[in-house]
Amino acid sequence: MKILLSGVKPTGRPHIGNYFGAMKQFVDLQNEYDSRIFIADLHAFTTTTDAKQIREDIIGVALDYLAIGLDPKKCLIFKQSDVPQVTELCWLFDCITTMPYLMRAHSFKDAEAKNKDISVGTFNYPMLMAADILIQDSNVVPVGQDQKQHVEFARDTAEKFNRIFGETFILPESLILENVAVVPGIDGQKMSKSYNNTISLFATDEEIQKAVMGIVTDSSGGIPKNVYAMHSLFKTKEELDQIYSENEGKYKVLKDLLAEDIKTFIRPLREKRAELEKDLPNVLQILKENGEKARAIAEIKMKEIREKIGVSLY
Ligand code: AMP
Ligand code: TRP
Repeated sequence: MKILLSGVKPTGRPHIGNYFGAMKQFVDLQNEYDSRIFIADLHAFTTTTDAKQIREDIIGVALDYLAIGLDPKKCLIFKQSDVPQVTELCWLFDCITTMPYLMRAHSFKDAEAKNKDISVGTFNYPMLMAADILIQDSNVVPVGQDQKQHVEFARDTAEKFNRIFGETFILPESLILENVAVVPGIDGQKMSKSYNNTISLFATDEEIQKAVMGIVTDSSGGIPKNVYAMHSLFKTKEELDQIYSENEGKYKVLKDLLAEDIKTFIRPLREKRAELEKDLPNVLQILKENGEKARAIAEIKMKEIREKIGVSLY
């Protein structure tokens, strides 16, 4: 079986963009691949230093993974910080990577464009991600479009390391679904935690209603583009063509229909999550056991790497 790996950062609540862009694939593919899905908690420190919040959000993502249907018997569900070998490997990647190369990262350029005081961690983010991917010998990495370049960086880094130290890493490939590569938010831009335009994956009916009513529409009276785009996550083109031609110009009706579809979709997920939340010790136990397995796999790889780079003496 080929190895599949991906992760989500524990920073705030995941939204339907995260779900359709990436997380749904984790569930759909868990029978076909040797899957390893983790919580990218070390990456979260590029945007937060609130220990209490991090703790809550780590448990939050673990609950999310289980609630959407990831099965810990089929799929390794762990947190990144339980595999400290990735930071060791990240350092080695830092030493064979140049600053001009990392300056090409979209994530870095975006941060720079916003004139942020950029941390070394933010700059280095793609190398830690490369270590996550390569230490597990991953073949495929399901992600949204915004992570494509990061997976390419992991590939480049694997090639460079192999060239310098000898064949060590598999070259990974990203897996991006065209139709959901970029899920739009309620303002029509990419749905993102940082744009305040999200619909949370476990939102209440009231929150969904409010968010959908807030979707930005133009006033031309035709098909409301942003409503339609979000609706296409839940209905086929044929179904939508009918609904939107029958209700042309009736934005309120169309929004109500969309809100109902989202509510119907989210309700069972929300209920499952609430159920899981009643037994947190079980969730922590799953993380702990899977973390140990992931760490053991990473340590075997790291031993090989230490041999290759010449530091294994005894
Ligand atoms: P993050 O919350 O940044 O850790 O993202 C988790 C996953 O969701 C990554 O694979 C992203 O590429 C994906 N993702 C985030 N926002 C969107 C979006 N608006 N559309 C599609 N995929 C997304
Ligand atoms: N950078 C990813 C994001 O923001 C999260 C992530 C960290 C990741 N390491 C990874 C995704 C390895 C896939 C594989 O969404």
